[in-house]
Amino acid sequence: MSDIENLERDLIAKVDAADDEAAVEAVRVAALGKKGAVSERMKTLGKMSPEERKEMGPALNGLKTRVAAAIEAKKAALEEIALEARLASEKVDVTLPIKPVSNGKIHPVSQVFEEMIAIFSAMGFDVAEGPDIEDDFHNFTALNFPADHPAREMHDTFFFEPKEDDSRMLLRTHTSPVQIRTMMTQKPPIRIIIPGRTFRCDSDQTHTPMFHQVEGLVIDKQTHMGHLKGTLEAFAKAFFEVDNVKTRFRPHFFPFTEPSAEMDIGYERVGNEIRMGEGEKWMEILGCGMVHANVLKHCGLDPDEYQGFAFGMGVDRLAMLKYGIPDLRDFFAADARWLEHYGFDPLDQPNLATGLSR
Ligand code: DAH
Repeated sequence: MSDIENLERDLIAKVDAADDEAAVEAVRVAALGKKGAVSERMKTLGKMSPEERKEMGPALNGLKTRVAAAIEAKKAALEEIALEARLASEKVDVTLPIKPVSNGKIHPVSQVFEEMIAIFSAMGFDVAEGPDIEDDFHNFTALNFPADHPAREMHDTFFFEPKEDDSRMLLRTHTSPVQIRTMMTQKPPIRIIIPGRTFRCDSDQTHTPMFHQVEGLVIDKQTHMGHLKGTLEAFAKAFFEVDNVKTRFRPHFFPFTEPSAEMDIGYERVGNEIRMGEGEKWMEILGCGMVHANVLKHCGLDPDEYQGFAFGMGVDRLAMLKYGIPDLRDFFAADARWLEHYGFDPLDQPNLATGLSR
């Protein structure tokens, strides 16, 4: 009996001392393996007398069960320790600051849209949008382009296939149709800018079939040309980020405004650089005017009660001028190196308080 007790004490001590899985396994083989100490003793049961076996059988079975349980418990404990160690070594401190990563860049057109929205929203304008696919009424007729008027030819329009009633949808040639959509659904006072894509069949260094415009519209009871000039001059200063901008309004023709004008701003060329604001040269940057009475009437507004101004400008061209980008076609070439060079940091949101561009 004491032999069995000694063996048990010895085996349990070995299990306790084992400090890795391999050591536990070695103890298991030495005790419970085919030729292990416990197994060898079990084999002797067959040769015993029935009385002896009655006594030794349960004793040896008890020994085997307890040693096996001790081994299993030790294995589980070691696995637990290994798991704890792995979790500790893989711990991540989510409160640490991130490593600098390349964020991608904001396209100059998106940047300039954001800059314009920042400038005009500070003056109390809302942003309005409309569909790229328009009908003839919103793109032309309501804007006072008479049927067959040559002004329609000014826009090299992309038309869709004629419908059953012979009418054709088109890709809007300017953002002006959103003026119509807004005046037909909102009561004045209206103060909106309309950023968006526009389309004309044209392509060279300064024209692409798809380009971008920002349109402006203000309708109220007493809005006049002085408000128009003040608004656009404030815009030009803020946009080019200079204290003074020389502007000049030249008479022009647009069907949807009367009178109509183009606004030029002064600039000078210093070496390869174009400096906007001062100088002896003039550059045209937008079209504008007082909304034509016929346009108001088409939208159900009484021209004796309401009046206002509108303007429209090419965003791509303004982006080229402000950021010195020579070829418009590169804007749409989806070249990652170009974007890396001319693009903007997405974390720098344009705003008037900290600066539009950095
Ligand atoms: N729609 C004109 C164009 O694309 C630009 C324009 C000129 C818009 C004068 C206006 C405006 O609202 O008053 O050429």
